Amino acid sequence: MARSDTADMRRGDGAGAGTEASTVENTGAIFERHVFVCTGGDWCAERDGDGRGVHARFKQAVARAGLKGRVRVNHAGCLDQCGHGPMVVVYPDAVWYWGVEPGDVEEIVREHLVAGRPVERLVYRNRPGKNKLPRDADDRPIGRPERSGKKREQAEAK
Ligand code: FES
Repeated sequence: MARSDTADMRRGDGAGAGTEASTVENTGAIFERHVFVCTGGDWCAERDGDGRGVHARFKQAVARAGLKGRVRVNHAGCLDQCGHGPMVVVYPDAVWYWGVEPGDVEEIVREHLVAGRPVERLVYRNRPGKNKLPRDADDRPIGRPERSGKKREQAEAK
């Protein structure tokens, strides 16, 4: 048995049999960007907002923007920022968004993923590491900051 046949058998798919060995390069950029939406923790998915809805809207908006295959949208488990969510993080940019609502997603896709400009009014900045907020008796996060710009815009729209 030829050496390449053994490799094909180990791979289990028979691909490449009788052909030259394929080359898989590690380019470090399989996708241009990854969008991780916290949907797996206790809070972001539905208790502090609609993380699942945010994830679904990202999937749709990324496809509509023609970014499918370049930008990957993934569910994420808890990102250790509970109480600030729903949380979204975009890599490799390392831009975090907090309190994201499904209605914010089109803007993030248009401005950040297409045009490369993070949506400042939603950008999350905090200390490195865990930043989970304590909860009151009704499970509301204690110390969650106000988003004055967003509230102002909503008020102006009325
Ligand atoms: S549940 Fe989303 S950051 Fe913890």
